[in-house]
Amino acid sequence: MNSTTLHPRFRTENRATEPVQRFGRPADIFEALFQSIQGGESHARPTLELTPDSPFLSFLEIGYALRACLERPDRQDYLLQRLRPHLSVMIGTLPASILPLGMLPKLAALPGFRELEDISDDEVHAWLIQEGGLIYGEMQRFELENYFDAVKPFLPPGGVMVDLGSGLGKVVMTAALTLPFTRCVGIELMTYRHRLAQERLVSLLTLNRLGLESLPQPLLADAPLLLPSGAQTTGRHLLELGSRIAFIESDMFKVDVRGASLVFLYSTCFGPLMDAISNKLARELPEGALVTTTTYPIQHPAFRLLETHGPGTLSWTSVMIYQRIGPQMTVPASEERYLHQPDADAWEARVREEWAT
Ligand SMILES: C[S@@+](CC[C@H](N)C(=O)[O-])C[C@H]1O[C@@H](n2cnc3c(N)ncnc32)[C@H](O)[C@@H]1O
Repeated sequence: MNSTTLHPRFRTENRATEPVQRFGRPADIFEALFQSIQGGESHARPTLELTPDSPFLSFLEIGYALRACLERPDRQDYLLQRLRPHLSVMIGTLPASILPLGMLPKLAALPGFRELEDISDDEVHAWLIQEGGLIYGEMQRFELENYFDAVKPFLPPGGVMVDLGSGLGKVVMTAALTLPFTRCVGIELMTYRHRLAQERLVSLLTLNRLGLESLPQPLLADAPLLLPSGAQTTGRHLLELGSRIAFIESDMFKVDVRGASLVFLYSTCFGPLMDAISNKLARELPEGALVTTTTYPIQHPAFRLLETHGPGTLSWTSVMIYQRIGPQMTVPASEERYLHQPDADAWEARVREEWAT
């Protein structure tokens, strides 16, 4: 199958829910667990820590230099001049991090931080790519239900699910509850998001234990268990939930995903990274593994498109399902494949209009 698929069964909104009052059967536990992992998109975003040993030190330095130009009217023309060549990798009119509610702290710059004049175009370019990739968003509960319905027919039972850029862990925990994966792993670059994912996992497991202890009949490891997704498994699914979920704080490019059977990418803000990600996955994934992306397609010969779900069907944005085909391979990255080329004059007019108002 290689088609744009219409699934009339897809949900279009979250169903109304009531807090779970009583754990009469495993379905009540599932409902309480799903409810507990919603709402991460509205978490308070702390600013980055400004310390000489921060892994984000270079990100902070360049962000400070750009913001310093934004904050001084006599330097704003220079800021536009420096951003103008990089619009293809910039998300939004100006990078969110340098705006007042962005993730750069308000503290004074560290000694040795350079001014924008001393920072090269290549550094600004790389900074903008990283900045875009750090934007946070989550799919809603009904979108993830649609998502797992869509991938389920292509997945053998068991297997390892990996979320590259796992944020607060919603997709990883949803995967572990929804389908009988052997293991679900999230890889997240930002320390505070990784910590929040771990905290949410502890709460999930505490609630699961409470639910299991409250059931009128104990759930037995080998007892058949029908998941809310319709998949059939055994009591181990809930009894061993903790051992099936892991979060790793790391750069996705430093973690090998060789054992994955499904790689989830909420790639809507990863446009300029798609070449590097596709090459990595082509090198590491075994034949048959699935990869799904949002918004951006994978344009690499090692992947066959199985399904495309247009915006407004499975999710608000498009979702593509791919399968790794053929032997392991490396194809040189092309920097051009995923980039858009906005009209620079129109962009500058928009920025100046925002400044004027
Ligand atoms: C749009 S959020 C999606 C979060 C989660 N996958 C979800 O769908 O709920 C993308 C996440 O990718 C993370 N990220 C960006 N670049 C990364 C990298 N190089 N390695 C690991 N995580 C990264 C961001 O910090 C952010 O939390």
